[in-house]
Amino acid sequence: MDVKEAIFQRRSVREFTDQPVDRTTVLALLQAATQAPSAVNHQPWAFAVIQDKMLLRGYSDRAKSLFGRTADQGSLVPELKEMLADPAFNIFYNAGTLIVICAKPIGQHPDWDCCLAGQNLMLAAHGMGLGTCPIGFAWPLLEGPDVKRDLKMLPEYIPVLPIIVGYPSKPPPPVPRNALEILCWK
Ligand SMILES: Cc1cc2nc3c(=O)[nH]c(=O)nc-3n(C[C@H](O)[C@H](O)[C@H](O)COP(=O)(O)O)c2cc1C
Repeated sequence: MDVKEAIFQRRSVREFTDQPVDRTTVLALLQAATQAPSAVNHQPWAFAVIQDKMLLRGYSDRAKSLFGRTADQGSLVPELKEMLADPAFNIFYNAGTLIVICAKPIGQHPDWDCCLAGQNLMLAAHGMGLGTCPIGFAWPLLEGPDVKRDLKMLPEYIPVLPIIVGYPSKPPPPVPRNALEILCWK
């Protein structure tokens, strides 16, 4: 698959088959992530991989209640509130793999570098027939000291981008893009 095809075809995937993502495949995704550019080539990233489905389910339950409590209630659209209140809703969409890209405190904006690594990972995954989706719902949970300890993140590390990975059970729906907004072209 060429790069342009991957960029234009990748969509967030929220329905997965039961097929696990094996270790070699996860490592290939992490290697792709680390090919991203980073300021001063600091490569300020580290990765936590979680493939224990029970642990993910437990994290999801905790994340839902935490997110509901910590999010700015005004900014939560009714659909989101409803999802968070549904006991059956799993913020990881029952995916078998969660990769958390964590920023190490090096340089001015290690989080920017981690986001670039995340896009590399998601495009590489798409090229390999895998589906991904960033999961912002998980942020408040992942920032908790106990979870950081569980995931071997040092206290000063920041969980920048949690990404679920799995084999799509059906093609994701198209998601339209807004019209280009070109501010100037001098
Ligand atoms: C930082 C970030 C956080 C996101 N968090 C969630 C999330 O918690 N749950 C979810 O279903 N999708 C999440 N998404 C996916 C977006 O909803 C999705 O990227 C957007 O609707 C555009 O669709 P596309 O990825 O298919 O192009 C997140 C995306 C980003 C970039």
